[in-house]
Amino acid sequence: MAKIFVTRKVPESGIKMLQGKGFEVVINPEDRVLTKEELINNLKGQSYDALFCLLTDKIDADVMDSFGPQLKIIANMAMGFDNINIGEAKKRGIIVTNTPGVLTETVAEHTFALMLAIAHRIVEADKFTRALKWQGWAPVLLLGNDLSRKTLGIVGLGRIGSRVAYHALKGFEMKVLYYDVKRSEDFEKEFSAVYLPLEELLKQSDFVSIHVPLLDSTQHLINAENLKLMKPSAYLVNTSRGPVIDEAALAYALANKVIKGAALDVFEFEPKITPELLKLDNVILTPHIASGTEETRSKMSDLAASNIIEALEGRTPPNLVK
Ligand code: GLV
Repeated sequence: MAKIFVTRKVPESGIKMLQGKGFEVVINPEDRVLTKEELINNLKGQSYDALFCLLTDKIDADVMDSFGPQLKIIANMAMGFDNINIGEAKKRGIIVTNTPGVLTETVAEHTFALMLAIAHRIVEADKFTRALKWQGWAPVLLLGNDLSRKTLGIVGLGRIGSRVAYHALKGFEMKVLYYDVKRSEDFEKEFSAVYLPLEELLKQSDFVSIHVPLLDSTQHLINAENLKLMKPSAYLVNTSRGPVIDEAALAYALANKVIKGAALDVFEFEPKITPELLKLDNVILTPHIASGTEETRSKMSDLAASNIIEALEGRTPPNLVK
């Protein structure tokens, strides 16, 4: 019987799919991230056939050395896979999979939730109201900014970036600019979008939304230098990976009004947050929950499970990371 190790409690539906196949599923009983040492201790000498893991598990060469030779697949329940050393997995002939597609709409919705919340000062207004500071309607109380017909710069035109463009255009008639390593003329036609180099996009946008994967080339893609290119009235939103933004530089830019505001779901040193950000009213912080709806997390669990089933039954899983 095939054996699978699951690094943390995940939505039940995926586990049921694996159990339905008669696989033995061992789940880390504690609902927290295992340290590297704990993960290795759980895996060593256990002859698992598959590892069901999360973006918070760093799967490096040492962890892979603790797999038995029968381990076929590392199935990450996430779209991003920067937590896994793909080169080391390849060397060992281990399949790596992720869970793209099922979270596109949810992450795009969260991106807009953040964009609307920062521009309309929702969090500040909530705090103000709860603190019983409200004396009644006032003409210049907590004024925010509109999204409608403003310019949105999308950095990274994958599925999520494209879905964000869809909401921007259809919902708010925003002008869409984008930057990516490659151009898409179909996208430009469909969304009346304009391709620009990053620097130019930063200069022209009222809102900038980041949707690139974390790679060597995207680490600190947004840094002190190019934050200065943004309009002082602009907002920055990040639902991709924290290290894409130099968080200390962003905190400085927000504190010194280099840009007007930011809304972040991801952080450079998760779960730690640059302390200066915590003191600022012009930033909204959510704890890496952009894909966190009941519907989507179940779909992600199911997709990770299907990838494992395909691999263990000798077929090519649909979400192979190459
Ligand atoms: C979430 O950040 C994911 O990569 O799925």
